Amino acid sequence: MHVTAGRITFPEDFVWGVASSSYQIEGAWNEDGKGESIWDRFSHAPGNIMNGDTGDVACDHYHRYVEDVALMRDLGVQAYRFSVSWPRVLPKGKGDANPAGLNFYKSLVEELSRNGIEPWVCLCHYDLPQALQDEGGWANPHITEYFAEYSGLMARELGEVVKRWVIFNEPRCIAWLGHLTGIHAPGMKNLELALKVSHQLQLAQGKAIQTLHDFDKNFQIGTIVDLNVVHPISDDKKDVEAASRLDALWNRWYTDPLFKGEYPHLAAELGLKPDREDMNLIKQRLDFLGVNYYTRVLAAYDPSDPVTHARVVAKNTPTTEKGWEIYPDGLYEVLVRLQKEYDDPMLYVTENGVAFEDIVTKGGRVQDDDRVAFLRDHIASTYRAVRDGVRVYGFFVWSLLDNFEWAEGFSKRFGLVRTDYETLKRTPKKSYDWYKNVIATNGFDLP
Ligand code: FCB
Repeated sequence: MHVTAGRITFPEDFVWGVASSSYQIEGAWNEDGKGESIWDRFSHAPGNIMNGDTGDVACDHYHRYVEDVALMRDLGVQAYRFSVSWPRVLPKGKGDANPAGLNFYKSLVEELSRNGIEPWVCLCHYDLPQALQDEGGWANPHITEYFAEYSGLMARELGEVVKRWVIFNEPRCIAWLGHLTGIHAPGMKNLELALKVSHQLQLAQGKAIQTLHDFDKNFQIGTIVDLNVVHPISDDKKDVEAASRLDALWNRWYTDPLFKGEYPHLAAELGLKPDREDMNLIKQRLDFLGVNYYTRVLAAYDPSDPVTHARVVAKNTPTTEKGWEIYPDGLYEVLVRLQKEYDDPMLYVTENGVAFEDIVTKGGRVQDDDRVAFLRDHIASTYRAVRDGVRVYGFFVWSLLDNFEWAEGFSKRFGLVRTDYETLKRTPKKSYDWYKNVIATNGFDLP
């Protein structure tokens, strides 16, 4: 790894990848024996998703995965992170497996391997089986066993080929967005419930890590957290304290238990006081931690928020189409912080990318220079961390394709490849060509 004048070069074994998730791209929501997921239920209920969009068809990846793997091969990525739809393989969440669903993932990982792309399999990227939600979802104490059984099933079915496993994508979103603010499925707004869910997710994670680890000692097992940098809006003690509470709730809530076996103080204040046994189950030996990074938030003191005493405030800085501040330095900050606070874990940037309004030119091309600049600055920030000795071993762009962006439906496009939702045609954007060159040359020229 080195910088020559004006050029960044990554270490030789640095992994370049792209990421996706089942509900956002697969479609085929009720085909071949798939069960209903909480996202099917949620998106079918009017008013939950912008423009009434649903993931019923999405990118139709279920039928077009061969074409999508070819796009990845041409891009040159070494790894592809995707998630398994739990209800596709276990329609009721437990009990009898669905052979057609399992076959889909077997075919996908075989296709990836044939093309020299390593599959990184995430077990849960939000889409819980609705049948389990009907039994209380993540708040049901038995969910940890069901999740462990499901993890074991996937290990048995895919473990010959798949050696990289990711337990969760962003438990923060599952707990807080799904059960506190209610903007994600299952759309609940209940602090007590959300606290319980946040804890049970981590217990389920602990059991799943054990299950996979017992199955094959050579598996590389990790999990993924989304970390937002939280800065106070001023030096005022109250703002600083508010930012620290928000940071505890959003960030440390999921990393402190995992690495230190304890929650931040805020948990006890809110009434979550688990016993030692629970905390021992949560604190597991992890092979790597995945970090999803998009933005920084600025916090101001606001006593009207009973949990954090904080309000997120906007500053006059450039934002993306999602309204998120563009703050590449935050990625460096996050990576360094993880190294310092948690004893130098092995890290991967498992998501970074951006939605901008993509303009299609007459020739059908998307000249997304703003996305190129965004990715360039965030990869440069990752590079600085690597150079400064942080153990970051790879970078995954979110996402290969424009896809279903949760509550915002198809209105936000994050892809390196444009998806035409009428025809489902895929067209690589300028950022795809740019990233291809980054991968081929293992770096890029600094502007
Ligand atoms: C992350 C999610 C991913 C995608 C991006 C934009 O929080 O993991 O599914 O929606 O944001």
